[in-house]
Amino acid sequence: MDLKRRCLKLNDGHFIPVLGYGTYATSEAPKGKPEEATKLAIDAGFRHIDSAYVYDNEEEVGQAIRSKIADGIVKREDIFYTSKLWATFLRPELVRPALEKSLKKLQLDYVDLYIIHNPMALKPGEEILPTDEHGKVMFDTVDLCATWEALEKCKDAGLVKSIGVSNFNRRQLERILNKPGLKYKPVCNQVECHPYLNQSKLLDFCKSKDIVLVAYSALGSTRDKRWVDQSSPVLLDDPVLGALAKKHKRTPALIALRYQLQRGVVVLAKSCNEKRIKENMQVFEFQLTSDDMKALDGLNRNVRYFTAAYGTGNPNYPFSEEY
Ligand SMILES: NC(=O)c1ccc[n+]([C@@H]2O[C@H](COP(=O)([O-])OP(=O)(O)OC[C@H]3O[C@@H](n4cnc5c(N)ncnc54)[C@H](OP(=O)(O)O)[C@@H]3O)[C@@H](O)[C@H]2O)c1
Repeated sequence: MDLKRRCLKLNDGHFIPVLGYGTYATSEAPKGKPEEATKLAIDAGFRHIDSAYVYDNEEEVGQAIRSKIADGIVKREDIFYTSKLWATFLRPELVRPALEKSLKKLQLDYVDLYIIHNPMALKPGEEILPTDEHGKVMFDTVDLCATWEALEKCKDAGLVKSIGVSNFNRRQLERILNKPGLKYKPVCNQVECHPYLNQSKLLDFCKSKDIVLVAYSALGSTRDKRWVDQSSPVLLDDPVLGALAKKHKRTPALIALRYQLQRGVVVLAKSCNEKRIKENMQVFEFQLTSDDMKALDGLNRNVRYFTAAYGTGNPNYPFSEEY
């Protein structure tokens, strides 16, 4: 990880900025907010922008990127934009049309990174979360290797520079890595990762395969009532984070972000607030000592914020004790 250049080389030769701006805001957030917030993030210096088809904000985020390009603030090649293939599109014939839908909303020619959002396939159709007459989520059976081959074709077609996965455990990553005739390895695995769930085993495995781990919910998530248990501990209130923040004259959020960079993890930070968006860029301005890092490693306690998502009963559900 080159912290001076603020980027990391992926296993396919492209570079990813190590700090990314997370665009997922709750559905209560006013329309137009993603555009305004993404513009603020680009102005503050963020060059890596993380979104997804399912966030329903790609029109606004694309508009923000294009307007900053039009204003001469950035060039297209300065921006690293990630989109994600939603779970209802995992059948191979649905992959390219799904990516094209995102590109159309974004009004961009390519995305820098396209990742399988989740390894659990859902029944294809218009519904984001298809349910049966009893309200039960309807899954689909798709061979992830076939999905992966469709992603490889999107890369060959120039619609995406790099391809990767999200919410994959080691077993699911190995399925792709051991696929006969694999053309491109996943460049990354984007997973929940913060001091309370530091993913050290998965991180070691990813590093051994030259796969970058990208951390989401690195600040403890937005604590959305729909899928975060409200009795879970609030990460940024942690006393160790607080003490380190005091020691370095920074904030607990900056300590949590810096922790990831110093362990070779690319980190996402979501904020819709101008002051905090700017603050998060200060992650490059200080360093944690090895004792600080050890103290942060000691906070690991298997707290997963995203637990109430749709698939806990599914055998492919990645959010288990298994890493
Ligand atoms: N692949 C996946 O399945 C997946 C799942 C979840 C998220 N993600 C991605 O990861 C991104 C980030 O994760 P996340 O949405 O869970 O949120 P997060 O980055 O862990 O935390 C965001 C929360 O922290 C607050 N915050 C931001 N900067 C702060 C600061 N300096 N001091 C104090 N509080 C601060 C934000 O509030 P304000 O907005 O009020 O500042 C927000 O409520 C998402 O936006 C999305 O792009 C991916």
